[in-house]
Amino acid sequence: MKKLSLLALVIVLVFSMAACGGGSGSDSGDQGTNTAQTGGDEPANSDAKLKVGVSMPTKSLQRWNQDGDNLKKQLEEKGYEVDLQYAGDNEIPMQVQQLENMITGGCNVLVVAAIDSNQLGSPMEQAKEKKIPVIAYDRLIMNSDAVSYYASFDNTKVGEAQGQFIVDALKLDTEKGPFNIELFTGDPADNNVNFFFGGAMSVLQPYIDNGVLKVPSGQTEKAQCSTEGWNTEKSQARMENLISAQGYGPSGTKLDAVLSSNDSVAQGITNALVGTAGYTKDDFPILTGQDCDVASMKNMLKGLQAMSIFKDTRQLAEQTVKMVDAVLQGNTPETNNNEDYDNGTGIIPSYLCDPIPCTIDNYKELLIDSGYYQESELQ
Ligand code: BGC
Repeated sequence: MKKLSLLALVIVLVFSMAACGGGSGSDSGDQGTNTAQTGGDEPANSDAKLKVGVSMPTKSLQRWNQDGDNLKKQLEEKGYEVDLQYAGDNEIPMQVQQLENMITGGCNVLVVAAIDSNQLGSPMEQAKEKKIPVIAYDRLIMNSDAVSYYASFDNTKVGEAQGQFIVDALKLDTEKGPFNIELFTGDPADNNVNFFFGGAMSVLQPYIDNGVLKVPSGQTEKAQCSTEGWNTEKSQARMENLISAQGYGPSGTKLDAVLSSNDSVAQGITNALVGTAGYTKDDFPILTGQDCDVASMKNMLKGLQAMSIFKDTRQLAEQTVKMVDAVLQGNTPETNNNEDYDNGTGIIPSYLCDPIPCTIDNYKELLIDSGYYQESELQ
């Protein structure tokens, strides 16, 4: 009889625990366990899920689709409702509208990868009025004090690694040259460009100054080297112009290297170097990139791009989700850089993930072994 009542007690306990959803590794951000400041006007209660607005700049570049997918998946795993929006193909008014909808739609926190770092003033004001915290994602939002935190990669390190790759590949410390190089960066409205281009030029400039590197076009300013929208067709068109103006080609003017701040820009450069100038893998200029896009990895395997930078977007999403959790609980998120990113209203506390240079020698370990891509995707 005693045994029977003990069994009954155990059964009752097990059932009541299951009904509460208790114990099953539920995380701090899970609905129902969140008792903290929620941001926005909606009260946190055990029935309503906290809602995270995620605003991505474009559907047309591979990385933002990955970023959006990773964020949505990881946030949903934590029990959040996610309103994920892509602003068409870098359409600023659409991004503004989508953010306004997220704010009126009751999002408790916003995660924003800005198209133009300076054009989100109005929705940022609205977020601030409603006390909705904003986390700038990958790209810092400038001149707004609504931005609470910034999660990104170390963007200066990206540029420095691209510059250093060219220095090493051409042996600029020991060879006399002169080596010819042309310079490409991304959208001038993207704050990251200052860090990518600035980082790369801090490494390359001394070699330009001592004459070992030459930029035959003379185009060395950010404004001259930028690529609106990080657009592949635009970088292709500029490279085609440089080829015809300078006579670059395997049997024409020697082109030793092209600095490109990312892969979508590098793909346009490759198209021009192959299609217009007639370069092949045997004489291809050293070309840099960033993101490890599938298209660029395929070029790398064919000898038509020397390097890229691996930015594991799963890691960035993970770090951002931690920030979301902390902010929604009224805690201070972990940051690791509180000096480099001033958005014009002061330093924005940042968490910077580590970018890793990727070449034919380590791509398997970085991309395939880590499950980022299947080998078959790169064929
Ligand atoms: C990102 C890069 C990306 C570029 C174009 C930058 O802000 O940091 O990873 O290649 O935008 O989308």
